[in-house]
Amino acid sequence: MSIVGISGSLSNPSRTTALVDLIVGRVADGAYAKREVVTVGDIAPSLGLALNPKQLPAEIGAAYGKLVSADVIVVGTPVYKGSYTGLLKHFFDLLDPKALHGKIAVLAATGGSDHHSLVLEHHIRPLLSFFGAHTVPTTVYVKDTDFAKEEGGGYRLNNPDINARIDIIVEQALWLLRRDAVQSKAA
Ligand SMILES: Cc1cc2nc3c(=O)[nH]c(=O)nc-3n(C[C@H](O)[C@H](O)[C@H](O)COP(=O)(O)O)c2cc1C
Repeated sequence: MSIVGISGSLSNPSRTTALVDLIVGRVADGAYAKREVVTVGDIAPSLGLALNPKQLPAEIGAAYGKLVSADVIVVGTPVYKGSYTGLLKHFFDLLDPKALHGKIAVLAATGGSDHHSLVLEHHIRPLLSFFGAHTVPTTVYVKDTDFAKEEGGGYRLNNPDINARIDIIVEQALWLLRRDAVQSKAA
């Protein structure tokens, strides 16, 4: 079993990647699963040049492979100009429309202000619905001020209310995983 995150951030260090990492870790702990996070910033040069889904660079194919074989995916993006990042959209634009059908998907976003929290419902959920993913009902939007900078330079979530919301999300994702397991046994 594996839990795979995709962070749409171009930054390093990144608040979004820290958030995705945290959620992936908590779901994976609850499911005794392997965990991995793919960051579009890390694959940006090859992703930006990729135009043809039938001729993908190995790095992009490998990232798709991880997502497609995951039991739960965690999709996180910083808000850029009121939406997900362009590179995250390009990542999904090149992916086979059937690739994530029935996949459990947790949705997360970060932003500088309160104004764009509905990006999760208006942009990210519809994108995952296009793929036929089963999106977890509760989502999480985290403002920059809810992160603390770590000594090593990374970011750490610093708001207990957000942590409590993530607990609810993890519970919902694990419930969906158990339901999938029951259904595949019955089939
Ligand atoms: C190009 C750009 C556009 C942004 N647009 C928005 C925006 O429309 N609304 C918002 O709340 N924050 C916006 N932000 C702030 C980021 O969403 C926020 O700082 C986020 O936490 C950055 O995540 P990261 O650390 O993973 O890069 C923008 C940042 C950048 C660099």
